Amino acid sequence: MNKIGFLGALLALLVMTVFVFFNFPASWRKNKVFMTLVIIYDIIGTICGGIIFTAFRSLPNAWMKVFVSGWGTIYYITTLLLSVLFCLRILVKAVYLLIRKLTKKEADGKALHILKDEKLQVIVFVITAFVICTVGFIRIGNLGETTYEVTCEKEAEEESLTMLFLSDVHAGAATWPFTYEKMHEILASSDADVVFLGGDICDETTAEEDIQMLKEALSGLNPRYGIYYIYGNHDEFEDNFTGKQMEEMGITVLYDEMVEIGGVQVIGRLDPKDDALSWEELMDKCSPDPQKPLVVLTHRPEEFRAISASGADLALAGHTHGFNIPQFLGSNLLEDMYYGRKKYGEMTAITSSGVSAWGIHYKWPAKSEIVKVKMTFR
Ligand SMILES: [Fe+2]
Repeated sequence: MNKIGFLGALLALLVMTVFVFFNFPASWRKNKVFMTLVIIYDIIGTICGGIIFTAFRSLPNAWMKVFVSGWGTIYYITTLLLSVLFCLRILVKAVYLLIRKLTKKEADGKALHILKDEKLQVIVFVITAFVICTVGFIRIGNLGETTYEVTCEKEAEEESLTMLFLSDVHAGAATWPFTYEKMHEILASSDADVVFLGGDICDETTAEEDIQMLKEALSGLNPRYGIYYIYGNHDEFEDNFTGKQMEEMGITVLYDEMVEIGGVQVIGRLDPKDDALSWEELMDKCSPDPQKPLVVLTHRPEEFRAISASGADLALAGHTHGFNIPQFLGSNLLEDMYYGRKKYGEMTAITSSGVSAWGIHYKWPAKSEIVKVKMTFR
């Protein structure tokens, strides 16, 4: 994460922490024991969050990593969830006051009691936030397969092509060690003709041992058309670091280029942060045959209209981590789509919620998935 982004995120978290604190009942805030516990929870949470995004890979042992990742995640997610819940409470109160003013009527006794019982509301909110957080903490990396079938009106060498697309492994702070084993299990038992790694396979928290587990997860696979990788926004592009790791594993890296497998053209895009070509420049460079099927691998689900207008039949993306609350309320809204399958003209776009998430060890209600696409040709 760049310094401005990091400081911005830290400031936002600080504002939310203060907002949450001042939404606790006044009597609680006056209680010294309560205040001390909340301040300790917040300070340790902020330090852990800071370490996750700056020095996680340098932590000396696995237990320290679990502690930092666990506390940082719980603090971050509960603070975000409580902020959302307190905002909703303010909204509900404002609507209630407006209705009361317009109708000049009081709510009935029971509804009024719930609206006015601040302590009950906060206890319910805190329990809700911790339960959701725990569920998301456990669920991340509980990997499954999501299957899609796509029909293409063009001809290829065979009747169909089965692809596995996995993105956003974020090997490091957010990924359980057993996720790699599950990943290997799915990949090794699959009948896929080709495997695509859709970016953010590593990130800023990836340490040597994570690379090792990743290598084991991707070893011994033998899809007949091979394994291809494209860069994501968190993969380390400097000195082609992640690309070299992939090449060492026998994986082909697509740097804004096109390959052909079984009569199907596959374009792999670089991420915009890595001096990528514009879509128009890339089309000029690759000049795909309009008679042959065209699959586009792009880490971010962006520019789908332009990609479709160029004659692509299928676009595969990751990046968004799906409908992951409350992170979904961030940059996902700026993307073309955040999850699932969508038609853009003749083209089918599929965006995966990915295997894991960035830094924060949490996935809910989004699922942890590997996407399987069976593409059938004319
Ligand atoms: Fe990403």
